[in-house]
Amino acid sequence: MIISIPVGFRALPLPVAQLSLAAVLQCGQSFRWSVFPLPYPDFSVNPDAPRHEYRVCLRDRVVCLRQTPDTLFYRAVYPSPSLDPKEEANKDAETLSWIRDYFQLDVDLLDLYSQWSKLDPVFHKLKDRFEGIRVLRQDPFECLLSFICSSNNNITRITKMVRALCTQFSSPVISLPPPNAEPGTELEPYHPFPPPSALSAPEVTATLRTLGFGYRAEFIQKTAKMLADNHNTSATSSAKMQEPAELWLTTLRQMSTSEARNELLKFMGVGRKVADCVMLMSLDKREVVPVDTHVHQIATKHYGMSSSSKSKAVKTTMTPKLYDELSSKFVGIWGEYAGWAHCVLFTSDLKAFASYGLETSSPSPSAPPSMSTTPTISAASTPSASPAKRKRAASKINVVKTEVVATVAEVSEDGSLAERVKRRRQLRVVATDPSK
Ligand SMILES: *[C@@H]1O[C@H](CO)[C@@H](O)[C@H](O)[C@H]1NC(C)=O
Repeated sequence: MIISIPVGFRALPLPVAQLSLAAVLQCGQSFRWSVFPLPYPDFSVNPDAPRHEYRVCLRDRVVCLRQTPDTLFYRAVYPSPSLDPKEEANKDAETLSWIRDYFQLDVDLLDLYSQWSKLDPVFHKLKDRFEGIRVLRQDPFECLLSFICSSNNNITRITKMVRALCTQFSSPVISLPPPNAEPGTELEPYHPFPPPSALSAPEVTATLRTLGFGYRAEFIQKTAKMLADNHNTSATSSAKMQEPAELWLTTLRQMSTSEARNELLKFMGVGRKVADCVMLMSLDKREVVPVDTHVHQIATKHYGMSSSSKSKAVKTTMTPKLYDELSSKFVGIWGEYAGWAHCVLFTSDLKAFASYGLETSSPSPSAPPSMSTTPTISAASTPSASPAKRKRAASKINVVKTEVVATVAEVSEDGSLAERVKRRRQLRVVATDPSK
């Protein structure tokens, strides 16, 4: 099926198995992308046509993306478009190199999936349904502040908070209508992520509290102030340029994992988990596996891991020791790119992804194009696998589900921890043998 290039877009050949926008942009890595359903009269005519447009605002442009099973379409919109074709071409080249960098397209995800699949039977079962999930290489300042917002929080609310932060503390770069909008549709302003200097004044705390940031308000202002005080000693010449403090954060990419972690832990509101998320998702520390209660659950549910610390409760509090144990166990299983594999497992366990990659009823193309902050990510969101492939994936998943249910049932029969661990191990053996 031939898909024509949408007007104004450029095409980059890229299989969805290398990058699934529907998964990667909505699984709790970045909180700033807007998702617009594309009005399309009849997807049955062309089931591979892009169904969503994704947009993000950078300091000087808005990047727009669409995707089919084998192509990524991209374009950037600027406040003052150039009429010089040469300058235009340069800007397009910049956008493309931003895309390559942000999505780390030099990393071959198919290769990683096949390695993890050999190393880990749990991953092997998930890989067809959750294809194209890779780690983003985000701006470190944005990533740091977003993950300070993430403590005791969920994706929907973090997304709202990060959006409020941008609306409140940075001027819009441009206003645009939604894609394929009717004439007269209201324009939406696009705000970039604010720089440290915009968040460092003491009164920022009170403003953030009124915006619903709670105790995180102070952490954000204090962190921005520390960065600005220590590193913004020389002036920045333009609002489009990164401030020295932002550039300094980027230099943490060259440090070792433990040096970079020590630097991040100095900031307000940054504990081990926030530091690890920032290192994995913006500082190139691909082996780092951030651990939270969610990852702990995955570890016990699918990997038969349990804490060696003496704890009777199933809901253990996360101690530094347990964190270390879980994190290094996952590194032991997945190797050099452990943090990336963790992202796939983490996404597969999100409620919003419960029907992702499975065969579902057709989407509602009549849905109005609007900013969606509470997505349920379904098969319709992804231009991925063929129905046959989806069905195969679905049957594999059912196997896993059945066995997890069995685990739960047995736990209630015999409550002792040792017994539970033993049973889980036995069940895991059954669960990991695809031939049974
Ligand atoms: C996210 O957190 C907010 C505030 O704590 C809560 O009202 C909301 O129900 C939560 N949403 C989900 C999907 O858990």
